[in-house]
Parts: sequence; structure tokens; C-alpha cells
Amino acid sequence: MKFIAGNWKMNGSRSLLDDMVKDLEAVDTENKIILCVPFTMLGKTSDKIAFGAQDVSAQAKGAFTGEISAGMLADANAKYVIIGHSERRQYHGETNNIVRNKATQALANGLIPIICVGETMEEKQAGKTMAVIESGVRESVPSDVNTDIIIAYEPRWAIGAGLTPTDVEIADAHALIAKTLEDMGLAGTPVLYGASVKGSNAADIMSIPNVDGVLVGGASLKSDDFIPIITSVK
Ligand code: 13P
Repeated sequence: MKFIAGNWKMNGSRSLLDDMVKDLEAVDTENKIILCVPFTMLGKTSDKIAFGAQDVSAQAKGAFTGEISAGMLADANAKYVIIGHSERRQYHGETNNIVRNKATQALANGLIPIICVGETMEEKQAGKTMAVIESGVRESVPSDVNTDIIIAYEPRWAIGAGLTPTDVEIADAHALIAKTLEDMGLAGTPVLYGASVKGSNAADIMSIPNVDGVLVGGASLKSDDFIPIITSVK
């Protein structure tokens, strides 16, 4: 079983989601399908598909205009929430510290956080990839986790760019993340790969050791693109 998670980012509509859910419910698969959609599209339930959000407040509740709490996400049938996506880190200044606080809120409300880590092109070129990934995991994951979490490795330079790291680069990153999680007492935590995943590369990427699934951006918006990713692995 692999995790196949879609991140719709700021795309889609409620009617597109209705159509997508119908299409996905007809797919014969053992894989775990998760759709992380904009807040306004949450509220749906499905026997086959789990829903998630793409961000959550670091605060529990109160006078934080415009924020959405983890409790509200759970109330809207979300089971997962992406936290610390590179676009949140890039455009909203989210640090590992903020990500950890958000993940703490998610866990306190029974949500499974999908915590994203990954290096920028600048960090890659400076030879800092492994250091950024390791500190990303150590600093973004709350210290007292005793339930499920998911990590997503998303090389920031490859997102939406049609670029992917080599299989060896993905293998090295995932091995480091798995080892770091083991050191933290979180052995067995699923680690997903994300950035430019499509039907034609999904099976190859998911055959790499320690890759437990994928987090898919652009190719999760159309059934014709997303279903081949879901069915590319058993
Ligand atoms: P793309 O699949 O569009 O590269 O996006 C990846 C991503 O950011 C998923 O969270």
C-alpha cells in the first residue's frame, strides 16, 4: 500500500471535487488516496478517499481573524493537513518552529499532519541539501508525537518545474529522513516524495527504498492525470 496524496493548492472548485471524488471512487486500488483541498471544499466524506487541508493555524482558537483551527478542520471531516509546504515557507515566512507549532495543534485535534521538508535551489547548490532536510525533520516534528504523522520530502527547486531529482538523490534524501525519524523514536513513519510526480514517473519513484507514496500537485487536478499515478503501483 502506498499513500497517493493530491495537493490542489489554490485550484479547483466544489463541483470539480464532486466529479473527482466520483472518478476516484471507481478506481480499484489498495492505495490510500488523500485529497488536500482548499478550505472551502472541505466537508465531504467518502468511504474511499480521505480529505485534508493545506494549512492550519498554530493557535487553538480565539481572536485570530482569518485563521482556521485544527479543531475546525476536524469538524469539516479533514483527516490530514499539509503543514510547512514550500509555498507556505516561501510566501508566508513559515519556519520550522512555526511548522512544529502547527503540527502540535493538528495532533491535539486528531489530524495527521503531512509535514513538508526540502531544500531550495540555493541550498542545493551550496551543498546543504542533507543538512536542510535533517534539520527540517528534527525541528518541524513535535517532540511528543505518539500517533501517526507523515513526512513529505519536496525538493523545492523541483516543484511545479517539471524537474525531478535523480533516483539516487531521492534515495539518499529518503534514507536520511527514515534514519532521522528512527533516531527520534518515530521509525516506520511514512515518507512521501513530492515534486513533478506524474503517471510516467510515479511507479519508478515509488520503487525507491523508503518512498512510501507521493504528494502530487498539478497532476492531481485532473482524473486523467491522477488516476494513472494511483494505479501505477499496487
Ligand atoms: P507539482 O506536482 O505540481 O510539482 O507540485 C508538487 C507539490 O508541491 C505537492 O505538494
